[in-house]
Amino acid sequence: MGFPTDVPLPSTIDDLVAGINMLIAKDVSPEVMVQYLQNYKNDDWKKYATWDPYRYTRNLVEEIEGKYSLILLCWPESNASAIHDHPNSDCIMKCLSGTVKETRFAWPEKKKTKMTETGYTVGTQGDVMHINDDLGLHRVENPSSSEGAVTLHFYFPCIHECLVFDEETGKARRVKMTYTSIRGVKQTPQQKVQRASECK
Ligand code: SIN
Repeated sequence: MGFPTDVPLPSTIDDLVAGINMLIAKDVSPEVMVQYLQNYKNDDWKKYATWDPYRYTRNLVEEIEGKYSLILLCWPESNASAIHDHPNSDCIMKCLSGTVKETRFAWPEKKKTKMTETGYTVGTQGDVMHINDDLGLHRVENPSSSEGAVTLHFYFPCIHECLVFDEETGKARRVKMTYTSIRGVKQTPQQKVQRASECK
């Protein structure tokens, strides 16, 4: 199914947010959201980008509590997320710049056992991927040792914590997810802690 014809295709990132708000109100499927994100082709996401040489940054573009969050992630060279879940949420990820590798894993069945990789996808600019807990767990990485990568993540509903897994043992621990910047404003460590304590 295509997306509803009364929702204009996004030219800018502000259009994208406006269109997402319309689609969320219509309670559309993840497949429709995938198609909508495929149509965003601008590079005006750059106004939200922040970089840290040691870890990927999470830059909130827009969030409606209980509905969705749209987050720009900037990946320095050779950086990766931990293997993680997406509790009760769909994650749609669009590669905006560089290259990203998404590796999927099965949920651990036995304790103290190396996790089972179920496949991987390498995406470049414009590629969109979709995962949820029924589809498995994943790790995202920038495989390049010479170029940064940028991805746009749409979580619906938003998530503020997730389980991260040790690949060698399958052991999980719950972590809070924080934002490096919110709507273009860099967050102080105190603001991150404060927000993490407020968001469930
Ligand atoms: C990812 O999907 O690897 C990114 C996780 C995050 O939102 O921090």
